[in-house]
Amino acid sequence: MSQPPVIELQGVGTSFRGQVVHRDLALRVDEGQVVGLLGGSGSGKTTVLREILGLLRPDVGSIKLFGVRLDEPDPHVQRNLRRRLGMLFQHGALFSALSVFDNIAFPLRELRCLDEDWIRRLVHLKLSMVGLEPSHGQLKPAELSGGMVKRVALARALALEPELLLLDEPTAGLDPDRSQNFVELVGSLQRELGLTVVMVTHDLNTLAGLATHVAVLADQHIVAFGPREEIMAVDHPFVNGFFGADRQKLL
Ligand SMILES: Nc1ncnc2c1ncn2[C@@H]1O[C@H](COP(=O)(O)OP(=O)(O)OP(=O)(O)O)[C@@H](O)[C@H]1O
Ligand SMILES: [Mg+2]
Repeated sequence: MSQPPVIELQGVGTSFRGQVVHRDLALRVDEGQVVGLLGGSGSGKTTVLREILGLLRPDVGSIKLFGVRLDEPDPHVQRNLRRRLGMLFQHGALFSALSVFDNIAFPLRELRCLDEDWIRRLVHLKLSMVGLEPSHGQLKPAELSGGMVKRVALARALALEPELLLLDEPTAGLDPDRSQNFVELVGSLQRELGLTVVMVTHDLNTLAGLATHVAVLADQHIVAFGPREEIMAVDHPFVNGFFGADRQKLL
């Protein structure tokens, strides 16, 4: 039997205080795909990620992850589903009062089934996966560089060994070298761990370095989805404007 899609959104509609953000939005992401989600500012990209994560419920429509409906009432099923997802938020969103160690340990402690010795080992493992040392664990978020914040946020997103990773502007605010390093790090982890990834980005190099597929959010829904090279050729005002003269970079 073939695997159900990792993500399946159908007929999703969302509005905030009467302002429609999504209307009849559909998206299907299969295992192992790295999907770059593009769209103008305020088009509702972060909102889609929050809906996939279960932080926000759409007004209408269905969202299935791994073939299971997100609004499945059984709390046990819900919890198991959530463990299969990791999210790197748009602004890093580390807990500023907690050390790097405690930030990464947070989702592990929430499980309430691991002793501190295991947690320490797992946190050190995650730190090394993102190229940081155990000693970095003692620092507070305010003491980190922008690139380190992203790495710690990635380590935390990977803490529960998710199958699906959601990244919201993972390289925004990084200089070109750090951005390239981070793209390479995410790419190698994606391949090693066999992750499925949905990534919001405005950055062409990030898109070129990671995305196998591209989804374009415009006019309140996904107007184009497919392999990256195919989407480059779609004649839509947003796509034309986004890729513009830089199209060649991505081919
Ligand atoms: N919790 C909320 N309450 C009210 N309005 C919201 C809420 N979340 C998002 N919105 C509105 O929904 C629209 C889409 O927001 P969203 O953050 O998803 O956009 P985005 O595509 O991620 O933008 P950006 O590229 O700037 O990050 C915006 O108009 C925003 O103001
Ligand atoms: Mg956003």
